Amino acid sequence: METDDSTFESYFANPPEGLDMSLLDRSRVPRHISCIMDGNGRWAVARGMSRGEGHKAGIVSLREIITACVRLDVEVLSAYAFSTENWKRPQAEVNLLMHLFAQTFIEELPLLKRENVRVVFLGDISALPDQTREVFEYGLNACADHTGMVLALAVNYGARAELARAARLLAKKVAEGKLAPDDIDEDAVSGALYTAGLPDPELVIRTSGEFRLSNYLLWQSAYSEFYITDTYWPDFNRWELVSAIIAFQHRDRRFGGLGTGKAARDDA
Ligand code: IPE
Ligand code: IPE
Ligand code: MG
Repeated sequence: METDDSTFESYFANPPEGLDMSLLDRSRVPRHISCIMDGNGRWAVARGMSRGEGHKAGIVSLREIITACVRLDVEVLSAYAFSTENWKRPQAEVNLLMHLFAQTFIEELPLLKRENVRVVFLGDISALPDQTREVFEYGLNACADHTGMVLALAVNYGARAELARAARLLAKKVAEGKLAPDDIDEDAVSGALYTAGLPDPELVIRTSGEFRLSNYLLWQSAYSEFYITDTYWPDFNRWELVSAIIAFQHRDRRFGGLGTGKAARDDA
């Protein structure tokens, strides 16, 4: 039987035992959730499969998380798909990933249309193999008029490269006399990043138990809350996303001040 998953209630019906959906405050879901999708290779190796099979399974997870975020009214979902350092991997794995990115983007266009998802890329996509770049450009065009959730895909993305590029862009404006050096403030830097115009991620999720950023959103995650799970990305699903959001909602975000939790109570 076709199940209707077009509403929050239906998409999140039947949670697994131990997850109490009433703990989720739907009015305080992060505007921008970011995923460092890690562990595809180990997921596959643990099952006696090739790393490529892990990447294919990872795409299924991303599809679920996209829909889950739309149902949760998230404004921006960003996902780290390929870093500037991932070129160091064996050529065959890089080729497969580039092929999968192109194939998936085409295959998922109907989903992006149905869910009104706008796609932006973070990273230098001009340096991708021709076929992948052309498909990305075609796909970007195809969903350019979508007005719903923004899906920001980090492909050939590295935060240091992004910051160096921002410095170049600002320096050029100064050289052209369009910007005064003293006007280079935090907003000017933010505006020169790939994420220009997007809110910073409030919640950064990393799967596979690694406690590092791996050159991801260094500037934008200055005050993000981190959620690290041992789950490999292909096993990450809507329920674990909800658990991450519930955990986020229990954090005392202070931004250098005293916040609203224990630190704010000065009983001395
Ligand atoms: C994440 O999974 C996907 C990419 C970096 C492209 P990995 O491929 O890093 O999987 P592990 O970390 O080797 O298990
Ligand atoms: C980070 O994962 C990049 C992506 C998820 C695309 P990696 O697997 O490349 O990170 P390291 O090498 O473990 O730091
Ligand atoms: Mg990895």
